[in-house]
Amino acid sequence: MRGIILSGGHATRLRPCTKVTSKQLLPVYNRPMIYYPLNTLIKAGIKEILIIVAPEQAGDYLNLLGSGEEMGVKFTYEIQDEPKGLAQAFILAENFIDKEDVVMILGDNIFEDDLSNEINSFKKGGKIFAKEVSDPERFGIVEFDENNKVISIEEKPAKPKSNYCVTGLYIYDNKVVQMAKNLKPSARGEIEITDINNEYLKLNELEVAMVEGEWIDAGTFDSLLKAQNLAKERLQEKLVI
Ligand code: DAU
Repeated sequence: MRGIILSGGHATRLRPCTKVTSKQLLPVYNRPMIYYPLNTLIKAGIKEILIIVAPEQAGDYLNLLGSGEEMGVKFTYEIQDEPKGLAQAFILAENFIDKEDVVMILGDNIFEDDLSNEINSFKKGGKIFAKEVSDPERFGIVEFDENNKVISIEEKPAKPKSNYCVTGLYIYDNKVVQMAKNLKPSARGEIEITDINNEYLKLNELEVAMVEGEWIDAGTFDSLLKAQNLAKERLQEKLVI
């Protein structure tokens, strides 16, 4: 299994803090934000990790993380010139993924749960992780039928059909590269991860697991503050790097 951390984007919602640096390098209590998703992958035993970054900050990531040797892993870096969507990562990562399965985590997503078993027990298809939220308009949202079977995933719906959002950790088999290459950009000009999830759903190969512990997308000032407190109060003893 190969790992990807998607850590590009312009982070305009966190200006001026992100005017001269990347969101995922901002401190979350005593570590740069990206250390938290990195912990999730490294704990699960993922050794080869591709870090996808925006061109302006590539040097900062190299200076901070280097080869990965100190952490017992190997980092590879890829530049995403423009943030053209989460699923573009699988196109940029084609050579890196090679013939393997892949787990991708967003550089601003902080999970309290240890997801190692979920990652290591993956067999085929796609596996995503849902969490109940109070602001479903902000996320990819899972729609269930009366038997709790997943029937669709909608990206930032104006009228959400549930409060269960898709969190930023995605596990896919090797088919994901070809799927991403076949996708057309959405109305907002992005290659959408939600389209990938719906493709797997059509194949009847999408598994949706629930996140039990706290989960934060630290992309706004309020959620960043929440992340800082979570990191201080509950995450310190769980971190391996
Ligand atoms: O956090 C979970 C949500 O992440 C999901 O529920 C949504 O389905 C998914 O689309 C995504 O929504 P966001 O609105 O949070 O996506 P955002 O554009 O903020 O990008 C998420 C992270 O990925 C962010 O840290 C920046 C990075 N990114 C984003 C894009 C679009 C990139 O590195 N490159 C990109 O092209």
